[in-house]
Amino acid sequence: MGYEDNKNSKDTLFEQPFESVKSFAFDQQVTDVFADMIQRSVPGYDAILKSIAMYCMQYAKAGSNIYDLGCSLGAVAITAAQATKSIDCSVIAVDTSAPMVKNCQQIINKKQLNNKIDLQLNDITQIDIVNASVVVSNFTLQFIPKENRLKVVENIYNGLNSGGVFILSEKFKGQEQDDKFLINHYHAYKKLNGYSNKEIQAKRQALKDVLIPDSIQEIQNRLNSVGFTQVHKWFQCFNFASFIAIKD
Ligand SMILES: C[S@@+](CC[C@H](N)C(=O)[O-])C[C@H]1O[C@@H](n2cnc3c(N)ncnc32)[C@H](O)[C@@H]1O
Repeated sequence: MGYEDNKNSKDTLFEQPFESVKSFAFDQQVTDVFADMIQRSVPGYDAILKSIAMYCMQYAKAGSNIYDLGCSLGAVAITAAQATKSIDCSVIAVDTSAPMVKNCQQIINKKQLNNKIDLQLNDITQIDIVNASVVVSNFTLQFIPKENRLKVVENIYNGLNSGGVFILSEKFKGQEQDDKFLINHYHAYKKLNGYSNKEIQAKRQALKDVLIPDSIQEIQNRLNSVGFTQVHKWFQCFNFASFIAIKD
């Protein structure tokens, strides 16, 4: 969908010796291989994007905003803009990583979607969310310090219009036994996608203090606690899940 322009840069970042693995960051190096990295690392990524397009077609309203929080290279924003071509709404895409935003703008320009997508270098813990019919956080909230997540979700709830939806995709922490099973098989899935055991372990080490997953219960409780009464887990593959929360 949004990544055709970048797909030739293969992610080999974690082939380096284990001792030299540094903490994961969305820097230029990661940006350059991100399209390949997310495709090979997030099971069901394409199905999630296609479903987000479908949700946008169903819930986006004329005169409102669609938000893509933590847009990276803009896959969600682009798919949302394309899905709502006939609806007079705007897509606001936000990311704190300067290299991501720069590359994302180039991709948006090539697709000639500039008049539909407003790309902002900004922090989702600081922005105002207003007049929203659809808000998407596709694997972003998990990177926000845990103590700030409630405030972000509260802000999303308050910025949504009645009948609007929040689509939240996250890597989650399963119950003890289940977690082991899901993670082992997720790693086998990554191997099938061409990553070596060494790369898988190095990436796990790099993400250890950066991506802190919630449990499904924590995710659902947080959504309920800010006011969402309807929360559906509509996707799961291994320890990755996506939820849709509807504002009454
Ligand atoms: C896993 S990527 C998201 C993938 C993207 N949504 C997609 O579907 O392709 C997480 C993104 O969130 C961004 N991010 C992390 N913390 C952020 C924050 N506080 N505000 C805005 N963006 C943030 C990172 O720079 C990164 O680009």
